[in-house]
Amino acid sequence: MNDITNNYTLVLGATGKTGSRVAKKLINQGIVVRTAARSRADIRFDWNDRSTFASALDNVSAIYLVPPVLRVDFANIVTKFLDEAERVGVRHVTYLSAYGIEHAPAEVALRAVELDLASRTALSHSVVRPAWFMQNFSETFVKPVNDEIVVPCGMGAEAFVSADDIASVAAATLSDPVRHAGSVYSPTGPKALTFEEAAADISNAVGRRISYRDIDRNAWINAMIQAGVPAEYGEVLRTLTETIASGRGSRPNNDVLTATDKPPTSFTEFATKSAAAWRQ
Ligand SMILES: NC(=O)c1ccc[n+]([C@@H]2O[C@H](COP(=O)([O-])OP(=O)(O)OC[C@H]3O[C@@H](n4cnc5c(N)ncnc54)[C@H](OP(=O)(O)O)[C@@H]3O)[C@@H](O)[C@H]2O)c1
Repeated sequence: MNDITNNYTLVLGATGKTGSRVAKKLINQGIVVRTAARSRADIRFDWNDRSTFASALDNVSAIYLVPPVLRVDFANIVTKFLDEAERVGVRHVTYLSAYGIEHAPAEVALRAVELDLASRTALSHSVVRPAWFMQNFSETFVKPVNDEIVVPCGMGAEAFVSADDIASVAAATLSDPVRHAGSVYSPTGPKALTFEEAAADISNAVGRRISYRDIDRNAWINAMIQAGVPAEYGEVLRTLTETIASGRGSRPNNDVLTATDKPPTSFTEFATKSAAAWRQ
């Protein structure tokens, strides 16, 4: 480790589902935070523009690392960013990965970044590998359209986890990096639910019927690409949905409780709290 003592915690993806919540939690703890994204943050940071790295990293001691989203080829650019982070004295990185990624080959970018971090000695790291976010139902790609949730997951179950709980885990590691150095957490919710069960919880919360419809996987992927998802990301969507449909989705564990001393949010609690998202 070098002798530089920096002040800021840099939160990447700071306008997104987890980054926005991580930033809020750290600020509430009195930690000096710099939020970063391409717009609407303290500083402009763009993975596609290396000239934005230096000012984002200036005077930074710890980073919440949200890797480039909707991409499959980002390992090299993250390595370059981490090289620069090490050089300017960053001491700790908390990396947002994904549930089960330890089983992926080293060439898969999400896994490659984990291995890169594990090989570094000048900074410590924590890895957060969450299950599917509950907020996918209220904010993004499985939000009901015409009162229907459409996704090719059959009757497979997943221990959906709240982005609030993921952020609490990440914030715990960033506020006490020494305690959490080398830790790996795989945040899950308290129960594995099928999409039909999730739709029933949302129906109860919102007071009208929201249904779940399984769909042909290729048709769904094509529809996602038509809606703007990059074509190369289609294979990631295939793996994610096949994993759940085949019964290999995440199962509840104690990681949220272990990292935060609080039990994870249930899907029913999430649905009740988020009902406004489905009333619009
Ligand atoms: N959703 C799930 O169920 C799930 C489950 C497990 C793991 N994950 C992982 O979670 C990650 C996404 O995290 P999230 O959901 O918290 O984020 P998010 O809600 O998808 O938001 C993405 C954030 O990244 C920023 N961003 C996008 N393009 C960027 C670029 N080129 N350079 C710099 N910043 C950029 C966005 O702001 P701007 O657009 O303004 O730049 C935004 O702040 C993904 O890596 C995914 O694999 C997701």
